[in-house]
Amino acid sequence: MAYDLIVIGTGPGGYVCAIKAAQLGMKVAVVEKRATFGGTCLNIGCIPSKALLHASEVFAHASHGMADLGVEVSGTTLNLDKMMGHKDATVKANVDGVAFLFKKNKIESFIGTGKIVSAGKVSVTADDGTVQELETKNIVIATGSDVAGIPGVAVEIDEKVIVSSTGGIALDKVPGHMVVVGGGVIGLELGSVWSRLGAKVTVVEYLDSILGGMDGEVSKQFQRILAKQGIEFNLGAKVTGVEKTESGAKVTFEPVKGGDAQTIDADVVLVATGRKPFTAGLGLEEAGVVLDNRGRVEINGHYATNVAGIYAIGDVVKGPMLAHKAEDEGVALAEILAGQHGHVNYDVIPGVVYTQPEVASVGKTEEELKAAGVSYKVGKFPFTANGRARAMQATDGFVKVLADKDTDRVLGVHIIGLGAGELIHEAAVLMEFGGSSEDLGRTCHAHPTMSEAVKEAALATFFKPIHM
Ligand code: NAI
Repeated sequence: MAYDLIVIGTGPGGYVCAIKAAQLGMKVAVVEKRATFGGTCLNIGCIPSKALLHASEVFAHASHGMADLGVEVSGTTLNLDKMMGHKDATVKANVDGVAFLFKKNKIESFIGTGKIVSAGKVSVTADDGTVQELETKNIVIATGSDVAGIPGVAVEIDEKVIVSSTGGIALDKVPGHMVVVGGGVIGLELGSVWSRLGAKVTVVEYLDSILGGMDGEVSKQFQRILAKQGIEFNLGAKVTGVEKTESGAKVTFEPVKGGDAQTIDADVVLVATGRKPFTAGLGLEEAGVVLDNRGRVEINGHYATNVAGIYAIGDVVKGPMLAHKAEDEGVALAEILAGQHGHVNYDVIPGVVYTQPEVASVGKTEEELKAAGVSYKVGKFPFTANGRARAMQATDGFVKVLADKDTDRVLGVHIIGLGAGELIHEAAVLMEFGGSSEDLGRTCHAHPTMSEAVKEAALATFFKPIHM
């Protein structure tokens, strides 16, 4: 049976591409090596971590966040098994949802390891060793990414004491001391989870700031907020060793600028130093598919590799390793394969860190604008001056709008605050339409909402805010 399209990998890039292609009339099959669909994001990444972030936040709130509101709770206890049960149920509902959508769209699925035999041919090796060969007009590589480990450091991740994000969402007890290697998104999200549940958390980060690449002002204030929540930071510190000990593990690090090495003991070490494209066993070399110097599948502007009929999207290609970027690439590629004009606007891809408060950004940072020599203006508004934020005791954070000095076109928006991950999308829509800070500031916003801070920051960008 020949297909129009076989997608290898069913993460957010792969499954969305498959569904869109089926909607556009193609005969589609997917190949997945896990027993369930949804890839890293649904099984061991975004979705389970958000279930734990929510549950741990409720726990922290109930433990010590309500008295000022007149809600007195005593004797809050943690049932970690039950919390993990909530996480597992959330994952199941999501992966089952993808299976349902495949059926609904008449997408055939093959569970096993997919390998490209040649353009137009994919083999699937099941767990029991049986091999099936499938024929197709087009192949999409959507195999995602895997834990990168610490560059230059040999670390044995056992997912019990020395864990990646996979083990970090499945610990069977709250560690006394968790050392997080890497102050990026995973480190700060999972560090927050275990800190809220009672662990002492120490982050060791190579750079001088957390969330490298984020707007500098946002990163600084965010670190202060997390420090207030009890997370400790060692910045400008390069981890040179992680070893298991009799009682747990030890982490050795040294100042990047030079100086003496230090060692700290941990019950659990979370290694969160990035991810790398996953291409092992795919047969890319034999099929002649070219990788770039960072091991990513090389593609052109239409997601085509150098081999006709083979395409790639998501974490396995260049660009931010984000589920929604992969999804949009999946849609664009399916449209291109259907003869339409699929397109992704890489200038407007929001990024969210799901801590409390959340951090969200879209477009350029102030540092990027400076480096590019763009003349810009800045408007800021703090949540301390927002009525709704006061009512909810959610005054941490601010909104920052960056707009072109001459045209007023919004070039970047950065938010720390409760619900920042939702608020950011009004900026994304505005930027998608090439809107200005005046457009945003003159748009009527419901009162009282957190969104009014976005409007006020826009007002501050082109003239003056009202409530400051
Ligand atoms: P990351 O690239 O965000 O952060 C890794 C950090 O480790 C960097 O700040 C780096 O400077 C530091 N580091 C590297 N080597 C080090 C060393 N030897 N010593 C100390 N620090 C060191 O990677 P992360 O957090 O592992 O996330 C992986 C990917 O998953 C990212 O692309 C991220 O965007 C994505 N992700 C996105 C989420 C979201 O959008 N909310 C959630 C989780 C992951």
